[in-house]
Amino acid sequence: MWLQYEICTVEQVNVQYQSLLRNVVIKGNDPIIFSAKDELQRAVKGMLDHELSWTENVQEANFVIGNINEVADFLKEEQRQLLTDLTEEGYIVQTSNQKTYIVGNTDKGVLYGVHHFIRLMQINSDLSQLQIVEQPKNQFRMINQWDNLDGTVERGYSGQSIFYQNGKIVKDKKRIRDYARYLSSVGINAISINNVNVWEEETYFITNKYLAEIKAIADIFSAYAIRLYLSINFASPMAIDGLSTADPLNKEVKQWWKEKVAEIYEYIPDFGGFVVKADSEHRPGPFTYNRDHADGANMLAEALEPYDGKVVWRCFVYNCLQDWRDRATDRARAAYDHFKPLDGRFHENVLLQIKNGPMDFQVREPVSPLLGAMPQTNQLVEFQVAQEYTGQQIDLCYLIPQWKQVLDFDTHIKGTGSTISEIVAGNIHAYKYSGIAAVSNIGDDENWTGHTLAQANLYGYGRLIWDPSLSSQEIAEEWISQTFGNQKEVVEKIGSMLLSSWTIYENYTAPLGVGWMVTPGIHYGPNIDGYEYSRWGTYHFADREGIGVDRTIETGTGYTDQYEEPNRSIYNILSECPDELLLFFHHVPYKYTLKNGETVIQHIYNTHFKGYEQVEDLMDSWNSLESLMDNDRFKNVQDRFRRQKINAKEWRDQINSYFYRKSGIADQYNRTIY
Ligand code: GCU
Repeated sequence: MWLQYEICTVEQVNVQYQSLLRNVVIKGNDPIIFSAKDELQRAVKGMLDHELSWTENVQEANFVIGNINEVADFLKEEQRQLLTDLTEEGYIVQTSNQKTYIVGNTDKGVLYGVHHFIRLMQINSDLSQLQIVEQPKNQFRMINQWDNLDGTVERGYSGQSIFYQNGKIVKDKKRIRDYARYLSSVGINAISINNVNVWEEETYFITNKYLAEIKAIADIFSAYAIRLYLSINFASPMAIDGLSTADPLNKEVKQWWKEKVAEIYEYIPDFGGFVVKADSEHRPGPFTYNRDHADGANMLAEALEPYDGKVVWRCFVYNCLQDWRDRATDRARAAYDHFKPLDGRFHENVLLQIKNGPMDFQVREPVSPLLGAMPQTNQLVEFQVAQEYTGQQIDLCYLIPQWKQVLDFDTHIKGTGSTISEIVAGNIHAYKYSGIAAVSNIGDDENWTGHTLAQANLYGYGRLIWDPSLSSQEIAEEWISQTFGNQKEVVEKIGSMLLSSWTIYENYTAPLGVGWMVTPGIHYGPNIDGYEYSRWGTYHFADREGIGVDRTIETGTGYTDQYEEPNRSIYNILSECPDELLLFFHHVPYKYTLKNGETVIQHIYNTHFKGYEQVEDLMDSWNSLESLMDNDRFKNVQDRFRRQKINAKEWRDQINSYFYRKSGIADQYNRTIY
């Protein structure tokens, strides 16, 4: 991936780097410092073919690394001041008196500073006059593994788990360590290592049967400034120790969790806490006992509180047994309806984890109205790096532009500027803890992500949530340079492929925000009515007159009312609603004219023909890069495009034929429809 170093062949740059790194001192004895040292050593060896010469003496060194407490005496007053203004993860990378300084407020900052420096080396930056002052915008920067003990990964598209194999935690943890390196290089600071659906055996992860080995994994991540979390089964007291109930208000149950948490912290003193999927898709939860989510989360929070542990409580709660005939129930409303009334009831160490959209990681969804709607409750937004509904790492879909749209969305919850980005950064409400989490996309495939270019989503996720002001293009170019080298043609071509890929995927799959026309269960490929008469609450309501879900206040499910003005009116009033979300909010006739002048039906035809052609262009573009990279990666992506083309064709023809048959309206341009 992006830490695969290549020798720097630009003579001048190479010479500059060698001279900067003549004599290096790194202060401190913490495992995080050892990681920083190791990373720099590897990078210098890989890019300059040079063994670093280390010194103990700060006076003699021309490159100084350490935390503020270790090196304060050697800094200028203004540098010390810069650091005082930063959080514990902040750092400076600065040139002063012909020396380079990487100084963090803590060892974590040191590690991030070293990664930053390495990144600059990889993109061949001029490092002679550095004035970098950095800190992450978000406090929680988390990744969720959906890995199971049997080695499978729920919604995994990159092989098997790197954590588990055949019912056991892997003995050889090299790959886990490499993963920690990758994650920390883009600033991730928390990880949950098992599926949110906690099955029978994984329930025992919080017992002495597994804790020693989990500690070994926690130590690997700790050395890279990443805290380990576990997903837990809410009914653990019953499953593990045969208690008769898991009622969160029951005394014995509370005591059970207190003892359990104490035991976990004996093994793992810096344990992060629990991730909980409760009362969601058949997972146990407080509803069984007529308790609510605040009761459930607070019981765990009380047990974790003495150790500074957190409860990450997921809000993906909805009725997954809906009758499709019931038009009044709207899954999009569910998270808000369940959680909003509980604002103010959660303990301070609870964070609610809310999916970016109200449904489920579709190609296009509005932003969840629950985000920011609970001023007194810590929140995390949840993204999905794994491409469950966005091409499954067979089709190219660079997701950074999608996440940026979410982060830039202005909720107006506290006036203009109440963007999701500011909300989860804790700047709109006084959240004690907040940030961003996402489902990972890696597995044990040699290239980690199945599709080599899907690495850009993992890289970009980390970079974006560290600094949401970075553009999708900047992030893409950084990743390409680090991964494929700095050749201009490679950077430009792959860059434009990545940047156009989400729109292309949307073009040949889901029109105008409708979603869910996928093959049930696997969620890849078209099946337009696959979910139409099912219990999942995921309908498009296409008939011979029109299509879309009426979520308006007057005639629909009233979902639009969950937004603040002006968003409420923008979505509620047909003529105001943005084209790309039209069918999410309104049911319209096929001949309804969009803002772009096309009718809905013609737009469906146009985008589907176009999407397929765009995939052909992507292929051509990729093929033109053959001589500029190694064969393995070239072939990997070439093969994915071959499969993407088959998929795009299937989508194009099924969608076009379906809507032609439903509506009886011919394509204006008379193209082939079946
Ligand atoms: C989706 C996904 C499931 C997953 C669930 C969740 O519905 O298909 O596999 O368990 O999200 O986020 O909990």
